[in-house]
This record gives sequence, structure tokens and C-alpha cells, in this order.
Amino acid sequence: MSDSPADSGKRTWLIASGCAGVVGAGFTAVPFVGSFLPSERARAAGAPVEADISELKPGEKMTVEWRGKPVWIVRRTPEQLASLPKLDSQMADPKSERKAYPVPEYANNEARSIKPEYLVVVGICSHLGCSPTDKFQTGAQPSLPDDWAGGFLCPCHGSTFDMAGRVYKNKPAPDNLEVPPHMYLSDTRLLIGEDKKA
Ligand code: FES
Repeated sequence: MSDSPADSGKRTWLIASGCAGVVGAGFTAVPFVGSFLPSERARAAGAPVEADISELKPGEKMTVEWRGKPVWIVRRTPEQLASLPKLDSQMADPKSERKAYPVPEYANNEARSIKPEYLVVVGICSHLGCSPTDKFQTGAQPSLPDDWAGGFLCPCHGSTFDMAGRVYKNKPAPDNLEVPPHMYLSDTRLLIGEDKKA
């Protein structure tokens, strides 16, 4: 029997998890793949997933599962948002114009999001599928430039992404992190995987 696309995607991420070795760090909203209940397996097959972001504080990230993939929700600080325009010249695709992972129209802006404060991206590197790690602390540190402005580092081959999930120039990853379809059900509830009102 062949794998469904969802199964295939899940396996890819599991392999990537081993590569990164740190998937799941930080706030976790739902159980991970190994402990899926039947209803959660249905969600992994493609159903939209709801996320309660009421407890997410500025500077924190939470992860939800959608189609077997980790979707990150990051509540960015004013400083993190202010860093984005200054980094445009260092980005491979600063305006997200490449078509591999088209950005939904409502997130086609500098912050790559509906509400600037909240970044919603699929946490899978566009190179070979590892899951990047959080590097929100700014400044000099191992594997990062001295003027690091905060973002994500893919430990597999060193691709770096800013706080909007945009990939830096001259890195193995060819594209920015994917912005999945999503919408706000209220100020504190997000729906991942669907972006049209019923
Ligand atoms: S998989 Fe991320 S840099 Fe290669």
C-alpha cells in the first residue's frame, strides 16, 4: 500500500526531526506524532487545526501539527518586527516573490503575516526538510554572524532565516519558510489550514 501525501509528509518531518535533533523545543500546543489519537490522525490527514494563542507571550513560539507538519506561531516583539525592514538587502527573496511557496495574499507584506505581531509559518527548511531551531537571541553566538538580529538556524546545512521566516542570501535553502493558509477565528484563536470564512 502506498503512503498518502500526509503520511509521506509526516515521515519526511520525522526524518527531519532526527536531523535537527531539537524539534519540539519551546511551547507545544498539541501532542506530537507518536501520541496521535484517532481524531488527531484525522487532522494529520488534512483537516484544519485550531490553535489557542491566548497564553503566547511576546518573544515566544508555539507549535501545532497540520498535515503532519510543524506549524510555528511566533509572537514577535516590537524589536523583532523593527528588525525586518533593515534586513531586506541580506535576504534572498525579501518580498517573497518566488513561487515555490506562494505567500497568501493576506500575508504578502513585510511581516509576512495577517497581524504583524504573529508569524505563522511551516517549520520545515526549504532545502532538504530539516526543522530549523529557534535563535531568537540577538548578537554574536556560534554558527551565526556577530550582528545576528534573531531568527532561525537550520542545523543541517546552516541556512538561516529571519523573524519573518525569510531565508538569508547565499544559503543552501532556496526559499523562505512557507506561510500556510490560516485565519483568525477570534483574537486568541487561529485556524491553520483554512483561510475562508464559512
Ligand atoms: S535542510 Fe536546512 S539547510 Fe539543508
